[in-house]
Amino acid sequence: MQGKHILLGVTGGIAAYKSADLVRRLIEQGAEVQVVMTRGAQQFVTTTTFQALSGRPVRTDLWDSAAEAAMGHIELARWADLVLIAPASADFIARLAHGLADDLLSTLCLATAAPLAVVPAMNQQMWSHAATQANVAVLARRGVQLLGPAVGDQACGEIGPGRMLEPLQIVAQVAALLPERGPLQGRRVLVTAGPTRECIDPVRFVSNRSSGKMGFAVAQAMREAGAEVVLVTGPVCLETPPGVRRVDVESSEQMHTAVQHELPGTAIFVGTAAVADYRPLACAEQKIKKRSDSLTLEMTRTTDVLAQVSACPAASRPFVVGFAAETQEVEQHAREKLLAKNLDLIAANEVGHTKAFDADENSLLILWRGGRLELPRASKLSLARSLTRLIIERLLSQPLAVGASVAAPAPSAVAVPSAVAAPSAVAASSAVAAPARATVTARN
Ligand code: CTP
Repeated sequence: MQGKHILLGVTGGIAAYKSADLVRRLIEQGAEVQVVMTRGAQQFVTTTTFQALSGRPVRTDLWDSAAEAAMGHIELARWADLVLIAPASADFIARLAHGLADDLLSTLCLATAAPLAVVPAMNQQMWSHAATQANVAVLARRGVQLLGPAVGDQACGEIGPGRMLEPLQIVAQVAALLPERGPLQGRRVLVTAGPTRECIDPVRFVSNRSSGKMGFAVAQAMREAGAEVVLVTGPVCLETPPGVRRVDVESSEQMHTAVQHELPGTAIFVGTAAVADYRPLACAEQKIKKRSDSLTLEMTRTTDVLAQVSACPAASRPFVVGFAAETQEVEQHAREKLLAKNLDLIAANEVGHTKAFDADENSLLILWRGGRLELPRASKLSLARSLTRLIIERLLSQPLAVGASVAAPAPSAVAVPSAVAAPSAVAASSAVAAPARATVTARN
């Protein structure tokens, strides 16, 4: 966080007193903090407190001519590397969701190009209210990072979700949100994750057992390496890694559309999603009734998202990484996919029963033209970090496409750790497991 500019917005809530400590903690990490308070916030803590802790005059008013003459609100919006709202009241979240700009803080939120992180703090009923949840969903769709809330005792005596995260928890998450100076700084990485759902009728779909954990781990590892990361994911129950922009989709068709939309400027594409290969030819408008003893579903091929990315013109083609989920002859099938889809790298794993899908650990066999590497069983995050380092190494050994042109990082930043460099003793198993079945699942 050294030298980073954090614009801390404090809104009206009892948790505002914790933000005084938050300022100290951010400054301890080397950040410069400019506090902006709403009128409501000043009912709970004085500007003097924040001024003393931050070492900067606190800004409160859009119409303060002296302050505007020193650093106008647009300059302030440009100054920020991150805008952090803590605590964020239900009212402020609503105003943010509607794009209002009727005070200094809401105006800054509209005027900044910096990432925006919101730390909600409110009564648990207010947090659970449909209006607040709808506003929060709007913000999440826009790429606003929501930190918390925590669940527990509240100042009002109630218990439930709505507590502001503790300052140290906020600092840990903020560190991951700030653009890193890693080897992938300035590069855009697009990751697909999770399963897709292919509609049968309004209440049923065809899907698979993918949990999305590997893709989320890859997104986190890429972000840690300094990349701007976009994660296009099917339906999963996972928290978005800090600093990663998430795009939620449901069907293979939606995933294809989202990937095509996000692709321009992408330097690295990693397809970890278990995209359905077939979808029902038609999605019935009404629930299908059980009128006969058997039912035949006619299916049609979906678009291969990965192959489409790989086939884009050389000038804009990213470095393309695929995953191969196999139940047998892992290496042979993976190598066939590497060639058939013209990939730069493929990470193969054995799936089926308790293997890989939905597990927290995995092992990977990584193949590229003229090379192979086995990564032994480890947590998916650890594997994702090793894979990321290998991708960086391979990427730098190739001529870069237009979208990927960024100065090469210092050699130390791309050093391949022993986990990647040393050939592993664990071979990818060729044991035959039962195929991962497509499941026909009712939504309720
Ligand atoms: N993939 C994709 N779009 C599809 C199918 C697969 O992007 N419609 C991608 C996956 O994200 C993965 C790679 O292709 O990176 C391989 O997926 P996998 O399911 O292992 O293989 P398939 O190509 O679908 O072939 P098969 O099912 O015959 O093994």
